[in-house]
Amino acid sequence: MGIKVMGVTAGRKNSNSEILLKEALIACEEAGAEVTMINLKDYNILDCTGCTSCTIGMSQGKNVGCVLDEKDDKKKIMDVLLDQDAVIYSVPTYDLMPSATYLSFAQRSLSYETAFLETIGAIEHRDRVAGLISVGGSTRAWQSMALEGMQATMFTTDMKVVDMILATRVPGPAQCLLNDELIERAHKLGENIIKAVKTPVEKRGWLGDEDMGWCPNCHSNALVLGEPQWDGLHYPIECQVCGAGGNLEKTEDGKWKFVIQEDGLLKDRTTVEGRARHLEEIGRTQGGFFENPENREIVGKKILRYKEKTFKGI
Ligand SMILES: Cc1cc2nc3c(=O)[nH]c(=O)nc-3n(C[C@H](O)[C@H](O)[C@H](O)COP(=O)(O)O)c2cc1C
Repeated sequence: MGIKVMGVTAGRKNSNSEILLKEALIACEEAGAEVTMINLKDYNILDCTGCTSCTIGMSQGKNVGCVLDEKDDKKKIMDVLLDQDAVIYSVPTYDLMPSATYLSFAQRSLSYETAFLETIGAIEHRDRVAGLISVGGSTRAWQSMALEGMQATMFTTDMKVVDMILATRVPGPAQCLLNDELIERAHKLGENIIKAVKTPVEKRGWLGDEDMGWCPNCHSNALVLGEPQWDGLHYPIECQVCGAGGNLEKTEDGKWKFVIQEDGLLKDRTTVEGRARHLEEIGRTQGGFFENPENREIVGKKILRYKEKTFKGI
């Protein structure tokens, strides 16, 4: 069976995100892949209502879907997207992070939570790879959460990110066409995607720029000071994206590097096992809340102060 690759963008028509995505997809097509591409701006995607009926259903062993399935285009897109071997996302950076059009789309994926659905036997496991392109007018300084924001949306549908590009300093429409190196890099991303798909699953690894980012595990460029977690685990420094834990160490040439400690990948969010620890957390925290009738009683009483209080709106 041929390789299926899908491109998803949320940028302006015929502009930077679309162009870089198309260049990557051209490489995939040249390698014989069957290519599909959409721009989310052409679709109606409603915001997640936050009802969590999807995950409540899953916790009872059922795949109930999303309450919005019949109301917009999300399901139509996901039916195709989840049938791919690889997906390339190319998204403009707005306010340091991925644009809201993309985030609204991505945050509607809770009802497709692969780890949950596989656990209850509702779906079969499928290994997919992803490539990410963030496109902004500025340098890394003003795109500080762009790729990281996209990476954070990959876990729900179990997409293994094998390459990422931060396209910088392309504010004008189609301005990326003045940067041949960038176009070549996008083509290379497409080639890397095909290479990853053709590699046996257990051997698939990072194919992007070797020195990209702080985190040797997920290549994000974002670290945070660790704080005690729900189960007491406390790393000095954590990767903001995958949750790897460790510390900063000075190299011989005087630079800082993030070194992951021995148990630092216990909660690696890029793996099903790592995410399972989060399911445990949800079970204890949210489950604990629902299970104890006393909690509901306390909340029921205390909430009156807020339900009855209103302020002037607009
Ligand atoms: C509302 C808005 C916010 C933006 N914020 C940022 C930003 O924080 N950082 C940045 O590098 N570029 C920012 N930009 C510039 C866009 O990322 C840039 O124009 C990019 O080329 C858009 O991609 P497109 O051509 O595919 O639409 C912003 C643009 C808009 C419209």
